[in-house]
Amino acid sequence: MANKLGKILYTEEQISKRAKEIAAQIDKDFEGEEVILLCTLKGSILWIGDIMKNLTVKTKLDFISASSYGASKTSSGVVKIKFDPEINMYNANVIVVEDIVDTGNTLKYVLAKLEERGPKCIKVCTMLNKESRRTNDFHADYVGFEIDDLFVIGYGLDFDQRYRDLPYISYLEEDDVELL
Ligand code: IMP
Ligand code: MG
Repeated sequence: MANKLGKILYTEEQISKRAKEIAAQIDKDFEGEEVILLCTLKGSILWIGDIMKNLTVKTKLDFISASSYGASKTSSGVVKIKFDPEINMYNANVIVVEDIVDTGNTLKYVLAKLEERGPKCIKVCTMLNKESRRTNDFHADYVGFEIDDLFVIGYGLDFDQRYRDLPYISYLEEDDVELL
C-alpha cells in the first residue's frame, strides 16, 4: 500500500514569507556582526536557502549531519554525528538551521558538541517545531511554524529519504503509513 499524503499545511509562499520575517529578526539581533549558518543535512536545505538569501548581515555557511532516525518514524534516541563542520567556530555567532525539532534529542546533543568549540553564541532557527513532543528543556530561538504531532514531509523533510522535493509541507496519513 502506498503512503497517502494529507492536505497541504504550508505552501511555498507561506514558508517564504515566514523566512523573510525571521531573517529580519536575525538581522536585528546580529546587526553589524557576522554569523555562521550551520545547515543540518539533509532536511534544511530549502529552508536555509530562504533564510540566507534574505539576510543582510554577513554570513558564512557550513553543514552538519546528525541523526537519530533510520527508516522509521520514531526517534531511536541515539544521536550520531555523521558529518562534522570544518569551519572555525571559536568566538563566532553560530545559528544552527534545522528543519524540524521533535523530541529535541538531536539538537540537545548537537549543541553540547558545538559548545566545545568555544563559539560566542549558538542559536537555533527551525522551520517547524513540535513543542508537544519535547522530552527535554531544549528551546529553539527562531521558529517558522508551530505544528501538531503529525509526521510531516516535503520542503526538505523526508520519510525514508522520499518527499524532500515537494515544494510545500504536507504530512503522511497515519493509517496509510507503510513502515519499512
Ligand atoms: P528529534 O531529535 O526528535 O528532535 O528529531 C529531530 C529530527 O528528526 C529532525 O531534524 C528530523 O530530521 C526528524 N523528524 C522529526 N519529526 C519529523 C517529521 O515529522 N517528519 C520528518 N522528519 C522528522
Ligand atoms: Mg533534521
